Amino acid sequence: MCGIVGYIGARKALPVLIQGLEQLEYRGYDSAGVVCINPTNHSLFLAKEKGKLGQLKSVLNGVSLASTTGIAHTRWATHGAPSKANAHPHEDCKRRIALVHNGIIENYQEIKHKLLKKGHRFRSETDTEIAVHLIEEYYDGDVEQAFRKAVGELKGYFAFVVLSADEPGKLFVFKRSNPMVIGVGNGENFAASDVTAIIPYTRKVIYLEDDEFAVLERDSITISSRASHKPIRKTISEVKWSVDEAKKGGFPNFMLKEIYEQPRVAEETLAKRLKNGKVWFDTLDSKAEAHLKKIRKVFVVSCGTAYHAGLVGRYMLEEYAKVPTEVQVSSEFRYVDPLVTKEDLVILITQSGETADTIAALREARAKGACTLAIVNVVGSTIAREADYVIYTHAGPEIGVASTKAYIAQLLTFALFTIYLACLRKTVSAGFVASYLKEMRKLPKAITTILHREKLLEPPAKTLFKNKNFLFLGRGYNFPTALEGALKLKEISYAHAHGYAAGEMKHGPIALIDSTQPVICIAPFSKTYEKMVSNIQEIKARKAIVLSITTEGDKSVKQLSDWVFPIPKMSEIFSSILSVIPLQLFAYKISVKNHRDVDQPRNLAKSVTVE
Ligand code: M6R
Repeated sequence: MCGIVGYIGARKALPVLIQGLEQLEYRGYDSAGVVCINPTNHSLFLAKEKGKLGQLKSVLNGVSLASTTGIAHTRWATHGAPSKANAHPHEDCKRRIALVHNGIIENYQEIKHKLLKKGHRFRSETDTEIAVHLIEEYYDGDVEQAFRKAVGELKGYFAFVVLSADEPGKLFVFKRSNPMVIGVGNGENFAASDVTAIIPYTRKVIYLEDDEFAVLERDSITISSRASHKPIRKTISEVKWSVDEAKKGGFPNFMLKEIYEQPRVAEETLAKRLKNGKVWFDTLDSKAEAHLKKIRKVFVVSCGTAYHAGLVGRYMLEEYAKVPTEVQVSSEFRYVDPLVTKEDLVILITQSGETADTIAALREARAKGACTLAIVNVVGSTIAREADYVIYTHAGPEIGVASTKAYIAQLLTFALFTIYLACLRKTVSAGFVASYLKEMRKLPKAITTILHREKLLEPPAKTLFKNKNFLFLGRGYNFPTALEGALKLKEISYAHAHGYAAGEMKHGPIALIDSTQPVICIAPFSKTYEKMVSNIQEIKARKAIVLSITTEGDKSVKQLSDWVFPIPKMSEIFSSILSVIPLQLFAYKISVKNHRDVDQPRNLAKSVTVE
């Protein structure tokens, strides 16, 4: 959470920083701020505002600064309410040093106490502000040394970018646990929380590792470790994402654009992974294969939407690869002392690769000696770098806070990995693999067909958008779809929505049903189709309002439902990839009709980098 960007070069810094914040705003939007070094008198120009970036932009409207060095921040509040005073950047007492921070300083209270005694004056309630005063405290003419000393005292996890009016030709960067990427330009350099802020200017990046410092000047980047102070040679990576992928491309918001990108994501995922009638992962070599062949059990660990992908993945792995699979949310896994052994595989699923609880779960699994495999979207992210093996989902940048195309990419990757593992473990026949992959190739077209039917959701959305309570029911592969449909709706519309396994209805939730209760039933053809029909009958008998996701050609569910949305006929395993798409669109429509901010729902951030 929180987005950081820093620039040093020959361009005017302010527009570069604001553009960077636009790309990073998905990381938090409680406040935004910027500080630039005035080149004539080497003073600091600071502007910050409560609320979304638009507020800051309107204050800066008409401001033209000659400055070519600056840092900026978009905040997701942890310590201290969203306010102008608590917005970053924070400055030292003399307003000569400024700093932006992503993370949490756990021992800030004791340090603040010490600094107050020494006469430092604080302007905010944040944990962050103590860091800049600590640098001031240690400063005796060398910012880097003071920064190093200050960081040495801090506990917690953080990414910082610091600048000082006394050393106007430098930016100072440090990373521990939270992401920080350095953009390598020509006569200019960048620092940012993720590459989307940098790619309009350069595709060459260096990923900082934990406990690394970087000093950026216009023409140089010096990276060193905290412990040894010695310069480290780092690899420069090339970012493949295009600038257009991180823009709205004519859509009113990122979420709708990303929903409509799903056929392409499916097409590209399959194209990358299918070779000569086999599933192939470029990152899994023969050593990985030998490892995977022998595993005893799989644990799938993730959060939110990625957790739902894990639930679907469990059904896939158990049905076809015949491997016992347990799915846990990362925040539970890391604290329950999980019974993971050296014979087990722990799969971490994450769009961002930076979710704090999933990082901790990965480290826990590694500490227990398990083999770890990350299914990640963001290339070079912490989880991708720390896991033993990685499979990238290649969905492209996902900017909307509500995850859509990344989920589809996760499900497809799981479906592919399942067959890959099943082949290694010899649990499926060659004939089965051929027909499975043949059917999978039909998915991009099937997703396009669904998107063409978007209008079918208009009448139910129009009728139900004021409702404050929704139930989502599904079974088997579509029980996680019910959870995901409910999560999508609640996070972007703020209505309460609950996903249930339909078989659980009679064990409690049926008490909620009356003529005002909307129930979304995910009921495509499956081995539990008849059971779903019975569940819908029971709901309808109690007069609920029913929107059902059905298979083309279905008659029974249609008769019982107020509205139906048919998806193309495919095997049950693939129905979960299709049936979630109308639910994404339904949530989107309800959100728009309620005038919610679809891309930036309240209280949320795209990447949850604090526990
Ligand atoms: O980046 P991750 O996939 O690790 O993020 C996990 C969740 O925070 C994320 O899926 C969240 O639930 C989404 N906002 C849901 O749309």
